Amino acid sequence: MEIKFPKWFEELNLVNLLEEFRTIYEKRPIKNNNGGMLSTHMFYVWVTAKTLKPKLIVDSGTYKGQSAWLLKEACPNSKIISFDPQKKFREISCEGIFYESCDFSQYDWSGITNDSLVLFDDHQNAYNRLQQCKWFGFKNIIFEDNYPITQGDCYSIKKIISCSGFRSEFLQENSKFRNYIKKIFNSFYKKFTKLPSQMEQFQEIAVKPNKQDKFFLENNLDIYFEFPPIYKAPTTRWGDPWDEENYPTLNPLIEEISDEEVNSSNDFYKNECKSYTWICFARIKNS
Ligand SMILES: C[S@@+](CC[C@H](N)C(=O)[O-])C[C@H]1O[C@@H](n2cnc3c(N)ncnc32)[C@H](O)[C@@H]1O
Repeated sequence: MEIKFPKWFEELNLVNLLEEFRTIYEKRPIKNNNGGMLSTHMFYVWVTAKTLKPKLIVDSGTYKGQSAWLLKEACPNSKIISFDPQKKFREISCEGIFYESCDFSQYDWSGITNDSLVLFDDHQNAYNRLQQCKWFGFKNIIFEDNYPITQGDCYSIKKIISCSGFRSEFLQENSKFRNYIKKIFNSFYKKFTKLPSQMEQFQEIAVKPNKQDKFFLENNLDIYFEFPPIYKAPTTRWGDPWDEENYPTLNPLIEEISDEEVNSSNDFYKNECKSYTWICFARIKNS
């Protein structure tokens, strides 16, 4: 699929913005956000929100509350709605943010405007999320969990583009075995997460390798691009080398940096750059 950068992104001076972002990042309310976004992705979420200035921003995957805080920081005048079925994870509540525990797809989105922005950081099936966005009228979308074919716990845009499917080995087993595994998985999931049964439909599912999902993606998106890593650690987050077959990746924003700067940046360059998972922006075409 052809990668197209939108005009607004090409016009940005990312290196200058990165300096501005570092002061914002210093004041983040949650200092340890492991399991959530770290600087390498937060930067691009902040840049996108600040540039597009949408009236409405959706944050799907509240977790401790950091991403919703960041969106408010970028766009103080926007309405922000943050979704997570797991209310117990949230550590902060910010004024002007609406926290919801239903799924994005269960909310009443009547009357939304074309400029609205959605951030999906909820590890759900990206293909389903795109269908839901198209149905509700959302055009501008960031997918945080954009895992490459060999990695990750959800069907990502990168997997759709590679036609790889997702965990398709489950589909090759006979259905009796599959149903048994599913039953065990569901009972553990319910026991530990205590989610209401209506959430079952949002759990991860296996997808056969296929070309049609890519076809629909190409037909329905007019922009798709992956934000480059801020700085490339020597290996990917899984400790593998950055080979082009498994991990096709743009050149990083910062290519030359002294060891001294890396070490003095606390975690910004040293550790957090390893959390990069090809965060991307997609825009749904006007129909
Ligand atoms: C990676 S964390 C989100 C991190 C957060 N955006 C941040 O940067 O701080 C993923 C979250 O998605 C939540 N989640 C799981 N299913 C979800 C759903 N259907 N809708 C919204 N959130 C969901 C999980 O409970 C978890 O808190």
